Amino acid sequence: MELSDVQADITEVLLTEQQIHDKIAELARRVEADYAGQRPLLVGVLKGAVMVMADVARELKMHVDIDFMAVSSYGMSTESSGVVRILKDLDADLSGRHVIIVEDIIDSGLTLAWLKANLASRGPASLEILALLRKPDAAKVDVDVKYFGFDIPNAFVVGYGLDYAERYRNLRGVAVLAPHVYA
Ligand code: PRP
Repeated sequence: MELSDVQADITEVLLTEQQIHDKIAELARRVEADYAGQRPLLVGVLKGAVMVMADVARELKMHVDIDFMAVSSYGMSTESSGVVRILKDLDADLSGRHVIIVEDIIDSGLTLAWLKANLASRGPASLEILALLRKPDAAKVDVDVKYFGFDIPNAFVVGYGLDYAERYRNLRGVAVLAPHVYA
């Protein structure tokens, strides 16, 4: 779905499909160079990371494995505790693998901080993070993101995997949701 198809629901376009495509190509070239001769395992976190995973994986001119995890925060939000429950674990064994976590957005950073520690304990040969978007609050948690796309304002953003009540994930771009939609 195009941003123009939901024009009445958004106040500002943050990233067009083209901008996202260009950035993912740029990140993919770096991954290809850094992992030359390897077959990295891309790990996505459902559901938001599906779009970035699909685009990153197809942009890479190398063999990769793809796996997904589904997680849920304990209690009302990850921000309360940072403790995450695994709903669906990886199929892959990480021991000796070069793992890249692929995320759509880092907001508080708690999901990634937890995930990185969890995956690190499984004995990968290396573990890095690729995240398309980052909000200002992410700076409060020290997560080292090697492949990073765009800083975005602290607004309610939707599209390219990001939802509001499960809608707008299928937008090709990223936009700020109009307050009347969630008011
Ligand atoms: C989003 C996003 C990240 C997480 C980032 O997932 O995909 O996984 O939040 O937030 P944090 O930095 O504050 O931890 P969400 O929990 O909304 O689930 P979804 O991907 O299924 O939409």
